[in-house]
Amino acid sequence: MATFSPPPGTADIFESEAREWREIERVGADVFSRYGYGELRTPVFEYTEVFQRGLGGETEVVQKEMYTFTDRGGRSLTLRPEGTAGVMRALSNTDVMNGVEQRVRYFGPMFRGERPAAGRRRQFHQIGVENVGRCAPLIDAECIAMLYAFLKEIGLGDCSFDINTRGALDDRAPAEQLLRDYFAKHIDCMCDDCKTRLERNIWRILDCKQESCGKIVSEAPDYVDSFSEESRTYFNEVCRALDALKVPYRVNPRLVRGLDYYVHTVFEVTHPALGAQTAVAGGGRYELFLPGEKRPVPGVGFAAGVERLLLCRDALNVKAAVPAGPVAYLIGLGIEARLANLALADELRAAGIPVDLELEERSFKAQLRGANKSGAALAIVRGDSELEKNIAIVKNMADGEQTEISADSIIDYLKQRR
Ligand code: HAM
Repeated sequence: MATFSPPPGTADIFESEAREWREIERVGADVFSRYGYGELRTPVFEYTEVFQRGLGGETEVVQKEMYTFTDRGGRSLTLRPEGTAGVMRALSNTDVMNGVEQRVRYFGPMFRGERPAAGRRRQFHQIGVENVGRCAPLIDAECIAMLYAFLKEIGLGDCSFDINTRGALDDRAPAEQLLRDYFAKHIDCMCDDCKTRLERNIWRILDCKQESCGKIVSEAPDYVDSFSEESRTYFNEVCRALDALKVPYRVNPRLVRGLDYYVHTVFEVTHPALGAQTAVAGGGRYELFLPGEKRPVPGVGFAAGVERLLLCRDALNVKAAVPAGPVAYLIGLGIEARLANLALADELRAAGIPVDLELEERSFKAQLRGANKSGAALAIVRGDSELEKNIAIVKNMADGEQTEISADSIIDYLKQRR
């Protein structure tokens, strides 16, 4: 038989795995709602300019990784590569412009045309939050602490937080000049991508993973010193708040993050199960221009990659509880008994009792095998003669013991054995 794989970088998720996904979503919803975050579901595709403007035209994601297509009306649409830009587009219809804070959380598929690898997918899923409308160091720290609380609750408490500051928008030009003067002197020994970045996006040089660039980057001047007093104080206050909240973190002056919208605080989380090169979550403070607005809207947030969280949990053998199997398996001998069982199963399920049953014509032996396989503790057996006497035989699957009960009491009987 031919087998069909899903396209590279995508996956089918069956129940045993989907259970783990639901656990992440459930814990996220629980933790984030304790901090006042309500759910927002945005479309999986948006007008392309939402991402071009939001993430920055020079970013790797926008330049190389977006799935873009044209609709029948000739408008360019893009499958969302991340959640923040779409959330901001949605919030532009609210009063965030007037300084009213919005706290939203989201969970869903994102799409990036990256080379697939372990923990790197073309369709992946993010669980994230955005706190939009206000700007203060303690808001950033609270957001990071909430991410830590979430990671602890899903069993990934021994993760590492790297944090850094990108300064305010006004700090950019002097810092970029400092970096450009330094890297221009070394550019001949650097990789081709960095040669382009020198002109187009100097910040990306700082997190270049090429060996040839590593030493040069490590000796780059500390651009944070060129930031305004205000920006440095902002960052110090974030750090003080993280200390007060007991979030373990490391200041990493090379952390810049890949998207252009960041200002001030940026952070990334790794976990020993995946290694230091693969982030399980990332985020930071940003400023984004909403359509038609002259002032940018401030926000802070993060997103964690669900596949990566699950890889970590898998490596640590942390598993969601397996739901209890059926309480009983209904065995019916003959069409009348199977019909009666079908109606009974419906009633039991409506009463909250999980049951399983055979709907096809099968021998008693085959149905008993089905009962065994289902993991049910009891089998309820009925044939024509039991129907006539209005009784059922309850078989204990563990010891084979059989009891006769009235058909009218089956629901109560099973309720007591839940
Ligand atoms: P990001 O760092 O691009 O940030 O992605 C966040 C997380 O999504 C990553 O840390 C990683 O776990 C996961 N991820 C990214 N790409 C892939 C992939 N191809 N396969 C599997 N997992 C992946 C953002 O997307 C920002 N919107 C986060 C943010 C929210 N910043 C502020 N608010």
